[in-house]
Amino acid sequence: GIARRSMDFHKLNSFETFKEVWSCYGYGENLEDMLEREFTRMKGTIYLDHAANTLYPESLVRSYSLDISRNVYGNPHSHNASSRLTHETMERVRYRILQHFNTTPEEYSVIFTSGCTAAIKLAAEVFPWRSQTESEAGSHFCYLTDNHTSVVGIRGLTSNRGVVTLPVSPQEVENRAKDKILGEVAVCQTPHLFCYPAQSNYSGTKYPLSHVEGLQARRLYPACDHRGHWFVLLDAASLVSCSPLNLQDCPADFVPISFYKIFGFPTGLGALLVRNHAAGILKKTYFGGGTAAAYLSSEDYYVQAANVSDRFEDGTVSFLDIIALNHSFEALYRITGGMQNIQQHTFGLARYTYMLLSSLCHGNGRPVTQMYTLGQFDSPSTQGAILNFNLIDSCGEIIGYSQVDRMASLYNIHVRTGCFCNTGACQSFLGITNQEMRRNLQAGHVCGDTIDLVNGQPTGSVRVSFGYMSTFDDCQKFLSFVVECFVEKPVTVDHARLERLKAAIVSNEEKTVNISEVTHKVEEKKKGPYILTNIYIYPIKSCGAFEAQNWPVGPQGLLYDRSWMVVNGNGVCLSQKRESRLCLIRPQVHLSSNELLLRASGMNTISVPLEIRTEMHASFPVCQSKVCGDRVETMDCGDEAASWLSDLLEQPCRLIRQSPDFTRYMNKKSDTGKSVTTSTLSLVNEAQYLMINRASVELIQKVMSSRQDYPELDTENIISRFRSNFVISGVEPFEEDNWSHLVIGNIRFMVRGQCVRCQMVGVDQNTGTKTKEPLMSLSAYHNGKVSQGQATSIHPILSSCLFTMFFF
Ligand SMILES: *Cc1c(COP(=O)(O)O)cnc(C)c1O
Ligand SMILES: *[C@@H]1O[C@H](CO)[C@@H](O)[C@H](O)[C@H]1NC(C)=O
Ligand SMILES: *[C@@H]1O[C@H](CO)[C@@H](O)[C@H](O)[C@H]1NC(C)=O
Ligand SMILES: *[C@@H]1O[C@H](CO)[C@@H](O)[C@H](O)[C@H]1NC(C)=O
Ligand SMILES: *[C@@H]1O[C@H](CO)[C@@H](O)[C@H](O)[C@H]1NC(C)=O
Ligand SMILES: *[C@@H]1O[C@H](CO)[C@@H](O)[C@H](O)[C@H]1NC(C)=O
Ligand SMILES: *[C@@H]1O[C@H](CO)[C@@H](O)[C@H](O)[C@H]1NC(C)=O
Ligand SMILES: *[C@@H]1O[C@H](CO)[C@@H](O)[C@H](O)[C@H]1NC(C)=O
Repeated sequence: GIARRSMDFHKLNSFETFKEVWSCYGYGENLEDMLEREFTRMKGTIYLDHAANTLYPESLVRSYSLDISRNVYGNPHSHNASSRLTHETMERVRYRILQHFNTTPEEYSVIFTSGCTAAIKLAAEVFPWRSQTESEAGSHFCYLTDNHTSVVGIRGLTSNRGVVTLPVSPQEVENRAKDKILGEVAVCQTPHLFCYPAQSNYSGTKYPLSHVEGLQARRLYPACDHRGHWFVLLDAASLVSCSPLNLQDCPADFVPISFYKIFGFPTGLGALLVRNHAAGILKKTYFGGGTAAAYLSSEDYYVQAANVSDRFEDGTVSFLDIIALNHSFEALYRITGGMQNIQQHTFGLARYTYMLLSSLCHGNGRPVTQMYTLGQFDSPSTQGAILNFNLIDSCGEIIGYSQVDRMASLYNIHVRTGCFCNTGACQSFLGITNQEMRRNLQAGHVCGDTIDLVNGQPTGSVRVSFGYMSTFDDCQKFLSFVVECFVEKPVTVDHARLERLKAAIVSNEEKTVNISEVTHKVEEKKKGPYILTNIYIYPIKSCGAFEAQNWPVGPQGLLYDRSWMVVNGNGVCLSQKRESRLCLIRPQVHLSSNELLLRASGMNTISVPLEIRTEMHASFPVCQSKVCGDRVETMDCGDEAASWLSDLLEQPCRLIRQSPDFTRYMNKKSDTGKSVTTSTLSLVNEAQYLMINRASVELIQKVMSSRQDYPELDTENIISRFRSNFVISGVEPFEEDNWSHLVIGNIRFMVRGQCVRCQMVGVDQNTGTKTKEPLMSLSAYHNGKVSQGQATSIHPILSSCLFTMFFF
């Protein structure tokens, strides 16, 4: 079209364009200098998941550790000098929190909790729900349908108390408020609770803060329809991470927050801010240490503490974390000057990224993204620094979010994918009905897995979110990544749209969101001689291969395959994803001498016994580890192996093996959702054996050589990256995708399905260096076609998972 011009996207993706789009950037000081000083550890990483957890500056950790290593902080419930110091510091922190939200101890109390979710739960537990009686209507519990798991969870607490639960859609709040005559004859005191998020953690949409007073004064629906006293719980967890919140203007009765979302540190600490005005009605049923003024342990006599904070903080609060907050506030204000500046800075980055991303088109003029947003990023008062979208290929088909996530890791870009624990928003934006939701569940999709498309329809999306230390460089690199991996060349830009978006700027007056602007784009989906050439055993998970000419098959796959693994100082399994040097460890299994040899270039070879004899049980302490989310019972292999590994990997490590008394079963998911097998597993991720077909590898090699800019890799190099047990030379590339079983010698193997390969195939198994190939080419290969310069839908599946069915 006329409006779409092919252009040099890299020229457009520049700071000059940014300045046309938004005027604020940074906090006075050169941002790069600040990052250099405070976030050295993030060098080379593009972190775009601040809505989940933002990053803490290094000076914060330093000043905190200095503080607690110099001062003696006793339990705040005691009365000696060290306790008084703790108590006084906590008092100061409470005051500082209230100050941050522009209010005072006269108006609000701070109740520390373990997080926002815990704060919501506390509010729901102590709210004086009243059930319906003949003379009086019961309490209402209402929540906005951008429903949030933790708020929806309140239903569990209210449902058995005769409380009416009423979901309300955002537009109902405004539109259904009728001109009611207020002030009934009899004063009704039934308490009702309305919950809504100040900002959606899905789309970044900010809901009007003015609802708080509107509901309290019964001007808005549903308050205007139901007599009684309306209280408002404003879930501010997402909003306050990058925006100011002024409780003078918006006097919500309950405000739950989590501190890590603002500061990155400390974690595990949140608060419920309670308006003192509302505190009087709260009912406490449980009381623990410190919350009572007086009680008799043998009789039902309990006088609750007069002070709200004291009354609702059960037991001893996490006082060192609370002390850390003092330093968190200090660092945040020192670096940025305050939340208003943070809001301006982060909104600008989000607006810029939104505008370019949503104007970007494929060579054929089709858009590259489906954005899930209510507004057009025209004002920081209606939109936070969160973008939610799916990428679309040049045929108009959605690219699964897992695919985007895998490619992003190759570029060291951290984004968040899935449904973000916000099923309500996810369903509404993606246009998924409850029925489809159930069907997806039956197709094996559960929250947090990698099934990103069911029948071509997305089950989730990609979220990019910014924090105060995000930079223009992050946006630029992210956009270049999208262009490089997912846009069919030549790149074009919808200039008419871009200009329209540039012009759409609403300064600071409040604007309400119109939910009917959501577009549900739910497009209909268009619809010899075989030789086993190699056998590889990987005795230690994620370490080097050991090749054999023939090898015994055990109950869990090839004997001793993935029987050991390396864990770090915290007992967490190491993999090549994080520690690519693991491939330099070349273990060997010597069956005749019953030993596992640990070998690596430049290191002495040491040996570990293969069999665990009973007398060794004592010296091999049992511990628990996790593999792919499953619990496994393991045994430690002693100090010699541990120090060998620690020397090599330059961090404290230990070698452990699966305990012989422990069985782990293969995940029973299958296409039909039925249980298919009871195969037992070693420490492998998914299946007993992995297989790869040389013909498929050779095809991928051709794809790679057609994509000019990368050095060619030879066949053996690529094969080694897939870390399969069996290498076969098949006839057709990818024909193994359709096999149901195969027979090698006198063993019949069932094909469980294709194995999803992650960015680990980017690790060169000879050197431990990382490359973007072959994942780039695998992604470009799709249904027998190769799309030029564009990673469309997925074929990152080169090896198949097998399991033994039976022996002849
Ligand atoms: C993150 C978040 C929560 C949950 O916070 P936790 O710290 O996990 O308890 C609740 N509400 C919103 C809006 C959030 O963004
Ligand atoms: C969104 O909010 C829910 C609570 O309702 C929380 O559990 C979840 O972690 C949040 N999502 C993200 C990704 O922050
Ligand atoms: C003060 O109280 C704390 C907490 O009970 C205790 O650990 C500490 O030993 C006490 N210190 C003194 C000097 O009594
Ligand atoms: C809070 O921290 C600042 C600087 O980090 C320090 O000056 C102040 O004394 C601290 N306040 C308390 C009560 O510890
Ligand atoms: C969210 O609200 C909608 C509308 O009431 C409701 O149909 C849906 O079940 C809710 N989602 C969850 C996860 O509770
Ligand atoms: C209640 O106690 C907290 C903590 O001890 C204190 O900060 C607050 O000022 C007290 N509030 C009132 C109203 O006394
Ligand atoms: C919301 O948007 C739709 C379509 O853009 C429009 O028809 C409707 O009038 C708008 N409603 C309000 C309340 O602005
Ligand atoms: C797999 O089977 C399907 C349907 O039978 C067929 O269309 C496809 O070409 C087969 N794939 C290969 C690689 O043989």
